[in-house]
Amino acid sequence: MAIVWTSDLNTGIEIIDKQHSRIVDYINELEDAINQQDKVAIGRVLDECVDYTLSHFAFEENLQEEAGYRYCKPHKKVHDLFARRIGEYKERFMLGDDITKELHDLLSRWLITHIKQDDADYVAAVKANMMEVIAEKKKDGGWFRRFFG
Ligand SMILES: [Fe+2]
Ligand SMILES: [Fe+2]
Repeated sequence: MAIVWTSDLNTGIEIIDKQHSRIVDYINELEDAINQQDKVAIGRVLDECVDYTLSHFAFEENLQEEAGYRYCKPHKKVHDLFARRIGEYKERFMLGDDITKELHDLLSRWLITHIKQDDADYVAAVKANMMEVIAEKKKDGGWFRRFFG
């Protein structure tokens, strides 16, 4: 069943919510391709989904580090472990194993839980840091004040 974006998936950081919802779109596209038994499409969506998810992880880790989020290291570890798991699935898929349904279920289950629990936890720290950066820039004046002041 396709994942429907519900408000409890929103973190409140717009750019993060956009990225999460793009990942959800990919997972739903993957489900379509699986239902149509379109192997070429499955391979393509799988690659895109994995690439996009990995760059999202890197983006998130950067934000957390800049904000000095206290659990940024364990969060990165969780990302890394998951990346390794999906990497193994991708390998099996390339060897001809039919892992697509299993992988689809893992992606949807893992992502929803991760967004609601682990990602929700870093939001306050990252938001506070963003507000600080904006306040600093406003104080500095210059181009930022001319546009946003
Ligand atoms: Fe995330
Ligand atoms: Fe995350």
